[in-house]
Amino acid sequence: MKAVILHGGQGTRLRPLTHTGPKQLIRVAGKPISQWGLDALRALGVNEFCIILGDNGAERVVDYYGDGSKWGVRVTYVYQGRARGLADAVRGAEDFVGGDNFVVYLGDNVVLEGLEDVVEGGDFNAVLLARVSNPNRFGVALVEGGRIVKLVEKPKEPISDLALVGVYRFTPEVFEVIAQLEPSWRGELEITDAIQRLVDRGREVRFRVVQGWWKDTGSPEDLLEANRTLLDRYASASVASETVSSSVEGRVTAEEGSKIIGSIVRGPSYVGRGCVIKDSYIGPYTSIGDGVEVDSCEVSGSLILDGASLFHVRIVDSILGANSKVYRRTAKPLGSKLVVGENSQLGLE
Ligand code: DAU
Repeated sequence: MKAVILHGGQGTRLRPLTHTGPKQLIRVAGKPISQWGLDALRALGVNEFCIILGDNGAERVVDYYGDGSKWGVRVTYVYQGRARGLADAVRGAEDFVGGDNFVVYLGDNVVLEGLEDVVEGGDFNAVLLARVSNPNRFGVALVEGGRIVKLVEKPKEPISDLALVGVYRFTPEVFEVIAQLEPSWRGELEITDAIQRLVDRGREVRFRVVQGWWKDTGSPEDLLEANRTLLDRYASASVASETVSSSVEGRVTAEEGSKIIGSIVRGPSYVGRGCVIKDSYIGPYTSIGDGVEVDSCEVSGSLILDGASLFHVRIVDSILGANSKVYRRTAKPLGSKLVVGENSQLGLE
């Protein structure tokens, strides 16, 4: 089975976290968001992947996934460039797909349930659905008599609370219908419209309603929730970091090449490579990327991205972007000295 992972898009809602790279590469609970999808599909036997690249940090995606051999799969790439819609992104994979059925996985979604329904053998189209309280943020499907009869992208009038979750299965016929699409009101070729055309042609689009947790990591709050849930489910106790006068408690993964000195790290938590954590309390529900320096801090429920540094601060439920620095000032005049990027959020004491 082949899968296409969409790794393009503008990542606008996550700025400034996405200034230095695509949102799908943000590492949550130790893995880039898109890798949670790749690994889940791989576990079901998918071994050929095509990653669709956008124009934000495409080279970083290629650097990370390479040819896929690190994970025992084949990865190839197609460059979409500017985000012109999910159907436009899928169209780029036509040569990769050949005449086969294939899975499409949105690289910013974490979906761990129901994937077996989209990878099983046979010729059919399928989607995963989930009940949501805010259907206007999603594509939605109206189901009647056990069949999908209508699909609308970001509906202004509510027609259903069954949202399309970011995983689809298609027969190659989808490329024919994509070729006939016109851009939507938001100027994009919508995959939701392509599925509607398959329905209009009388094709059965199978569906499964996902009951458990899944996430479209569109906002900082979504990232924090994904971090908590993934740590809760998947963190394991595995400490390869050097620890000196420290206590590492519960399910903590601490990678090689990091030093934990005079600190308490409480699971579920994750610490990447090349970090120095000194005289601090970390966790629970905290993921720390590579090359992070933490000195005399308390950090819980947070996502600290690569190269960030924190000195003498207490941080809860926060996201610190790559290479950011947070420190307590002692020089007079006292008060917070800030350089705040566009769309940033700061909650000061
Ligand atoms: O999360 C589920 C929702 O995903 C569905 O309910 C919607 O029907 C579907 O349109 C999509 O909506 P979003 O507004 O969340 O899509 P977003 O622009 O965030 O893009 C989803 C993924 O696809 C993301 O990883 C970026 C990538 N992408 C997006 C576009 C527009 C591309 O690779 N190329 C593109 O042109």
